[in-house]
Amino acid sequence: MNAGVLGLGRALPEKILTNSDLEKMVDTSDEWIRTRTGIRERRIADDQTDTSDLAYQSAVEALKNANITAEELDLILVATVTPDQPFPSVACMLQERLGAKKAAAMDLSAACAGFMYGMITAQQFIKTNAYKYVLVVGVEKLSKITDWDDRNTAVLFGDGAGAAVMGPVSEGRGILSFELGADGSGGKYLYQDENIVMNGREVFKFAVRQMGESCINVLEKAGLSKEDVDFLIPHQANIRIMEAARQRLDLPVEKMSMTVEKYGNTSASSIPIAMVEELEAGKIKDDDLIVMVGFGGGLTWGAIALRW
Ligand code: ACO
Repeated sequence: MNAGVLGLGRALPEKILTNSDLEKMVDTSDEWIRTRTGIRERRIADDQTDTSDLAYQSAVEALKNANITAEELDLILVATVTPDQPFPSVACMLQERLGAKKAAAMDLSAACAGFMYGMITAQQFIKTNAYKYVLVVGVEKLSKITDWDDRNTAVLFGDGAGAAVMGPVSEGRGILSFELGADGSGGKYLYQDENIVMNGREVFKFAVRQMGESCINVLEKAGLSKEDVDFLIPHQANIRIMEAARQRLDLPVEKMSMTVEKYGNTSASSIPIAMVEELEAGKIKDDDLIVMVGFGGGLTWGAIALRW
């Protein structure tokens, strides 16, 4: 049984933090941020909204769009590096709040590649008929671990959530191939010490190389080529990193998702948020071949070739 996306949801805080707002907080400029990252603004959750609240909003929307009730869920996977607390997991909080009585629940930690890890984990249960419906959520409240005095990181991140209900789909659709990877020796380049600490140049070099390679690898595994790709959804970290992946696939600009301008890097939630937006904009259509690719702290990476 192939595993595919049955419904999507997203949650974005209302508060917008623009580049000019950041100019008043640290020694930076709108011009620097735009040209180096592609980011114009990002969303920041208020003190009353924690990670589980964003996760819940996106999950309710995804269930509605999938036309599935919470009671039907077999498993809830939440990809996040900013849980409300180490335990109970955000997934267990969701399970209770949604009333998903029969669902098992756990969080998984793979930073910005978290949603890829989540979707691929869900696929294993669905493919083997062990479970039918799995809710995968990517969610972050990165603002709570951002050092707002550090211009190297403060300009990059935002808060948000994206959710997908996954379940069985017909042969030839859904996830056709995947790649997951990790390189713990690069953990020193991006980690949380209280706040986010990052060696931007090292992460940049790794991301440019890995994003392109992973895209090519999933296509090869599915017996497809660059020409077959209809749309690319890269992790929305930095426009220059995303551009490198697009060029590796020889895709025109309009065939790549670019939400980084509006939301910054929202880590595990960036890919599902982008999926929702592209679907709404009519850029993803039935039968399209979508390549999704993410990378993150760990270091981790993951990619999926998916027939919509
Ligand atoms: N405003 C102005 N100047 C800045 C800022 C800022 N916000 N941030 C850094 N600078 C300065 C630096 O201090 C440096 O100055 P120096 O030369 O005097 O030391 C200069 O700008 C250039 O710095 P570089 O690091 O060379 O800039 P670069 O072109 O590499 O861009 C960036 C930096 C945007 C961070 C880039 O390296 C990048 O995007 N890296 C990847 C980061 C990333 O994607 N992280 C998330 C990973 S996903 C996850 O798991 C969370």
